[in-house]
Amino acid sequence: MAQIILKNIKKTYDPDVLKKPVLNQLSLSIEAGEFVGIVGPSGSGKTTLLYVMSGLEKVDSGEVLLFNKPLSTYLESDRAMLRRDLIGFVFQFFNLIPNLSIYDNLKLANVIIKNKGLTIEEALNLVGLKDVMHKYPSELSGGMQQRASIGRAILGEKKIIFADEPTGNLDYQTSLDIMGLFKELNQKLGITIVMVTHNEALLSYTNRVIRLLDGKIEKDEKR
Ligand SMILES: Nc1ncnc2c1ncn2[C@@H]1O[C@H](COP(=O)(O)OP(=O)(O)OP(=O)(O)O)[C@@H](O)[C@H]1O
Ligand SMILES: [Mg+2]
Repeated sequence: MAQIILKNIKKTYDPDVLKKPVLNQLSLSIEAGEFVGIVGPSGSGKTTLLYVMSGLEKVDSGEVLLFNKPLSTYLESDRAMLRRDLIGFVFQFFNLIPNLSIYDNLKLANVIIKNKGLTIEEALNLVGLKDVMHKYPSELSGGMQQRASIGRAILGEKKIIFADEPTGNLDYQTSLDIMGLFKELNQKLGITIVMVTHNEALLSYTNRVIRLLDGKIEKDEKR
């Protein structure tokens, strides 16, 4: 089942019509359970594509369907619920709150979601941080902090994780470790993962690679 469908998306930030759109008549479809890598030069529109897919950014024209329903037909409250309960985000910087323990970081995130799925304890177990959950972010390595932010992203019953250069701040070995974790979550929980990366070596963990160039899909390969 297609979870994300983009139809002829055009997206500009600058209202200047002479400027090239960031996404230019882009169409794609992502199925439930895929692990998609998105690559492309800096400025090719990767982050914008993630924001458009998740409904964080509006498009100029074209249509975005999430879970088989056009985003334009969701009420604003439903769109917020969707982003809160069904979609998780992971970024290059871990965005953990420094004066809260790892457990409390997840607890805070859990307050706002309608948690019917993975509990804080289950999420911490899955990302392998049960033993250090009472430590503060600064007491953990970068890789462990990213594990914590992934734990936070999977709380509840998330269907899709969007990750924007999740290993951009980590050394190579730790990057492989984080990719292994994504792969495990993808396979064990069936969560769809859409990940932007600059590191070609990490693409072997994905099932599909989409290459962006100038706001268009240059290549889309399934493995
Ligand atoms: N909020 C914004 N306002 C105006 N222009 C923007 C905004 N966000 C991105 N852009 C522009 O849109 C283009 C695509 O940006 P985007 O961040 O999507 O690229 P990217 O592929 O993620 O690049 P990088 O690899 O550097 O992260 C760039 O030219 C950028 O300057
Ligand atoms: Mg980017």
